[in-house]
Amino acid sequence: MKKIVALNLKMNLGYEEALEYVNTIKDKISDTYEVIFFPSAIFLHLFKKSGYQIGSQNVHYENKGAFTGEISPYQLKTSGIDYTIVGHSERRLYFKEDDKLINKKVIGALKNNLKVILCVGETDEERRLKKTALVISNQIERALKNIDSFDLRDVIIAYEPVWAIGSGKTPSKEEIADAIKFIKKIIFQRYDINIRVLYGGSVNKDNIKTIMNIENVDGILVGSSSFNPNYLISMIDIID
Ligand code: PGA
Repeated sequence: MKKIVALNLKMNLGYEEALEYVNTIKDKISDTYEVIFFPSAIFLHLFKKSGYQIGSQNVHYENKGAFTGEISPYQLKTSGIDYTIVGHSERRLYFKEDDKLINKKVIGALKNNLKVILCVGETDEERRLKKTALVISNQIERALKNIDSFDLRDVIIAYEPVWAIGSGKTPSKEEIADAIKFIKKIIFQRYDINIRVLYGGSVNKDNIKTIMNIENVDGILVGSSSFNPNYLISMIDIID
């Protein structure tokens, strides 16, 4: 299976910039990896023309209804979108998404055959209190409540320590390896399947090769380092 390079563009790019971005990346990124772009919803169609896989940064749990401003998993799937991120720490923090809501979103997405990248990770304080394993384990258990091992085949987990996102700081190689091994172990114990786990948080040109080569890492979720398409292309070239 190819390693995943997932690119979270967050709330960036104007219309002209998005057009230019898509033109710049077209045919430029090695197909050694499964590349998935997560642009703002308004640019999903535009990015679809890039030829790469496309996903949504967020999703509602219902298919239809009176939920002004939301985008449903049904709308995504019927628009040719195959992936969605659920539980990103920025959504947990700024939009007060809790594990219960995240669980509903995962279920709604899976029902529509969307592939889910579920983000989990500890805050700085939880890390200092040595609660990383407990936090990750609770987040996973709650987010995946009432989901069976068959459906779990469409779930990828991204280990994203909150303190590493956008901060320029990353855990050590050993810490990443341990967290990923731990996530795979708890999923295997509970569901008897092997799940893919990504690392996310301040991946850049200086650390991408090391992180991609850590044992058990099935790929990366990149934010800031994907905002400039030329930087992104040269960063991915470094892995090869
Ligand atoms: P970052 O963001 O690469 O800017 O740390 C990662 C993410 O938001 O998934």
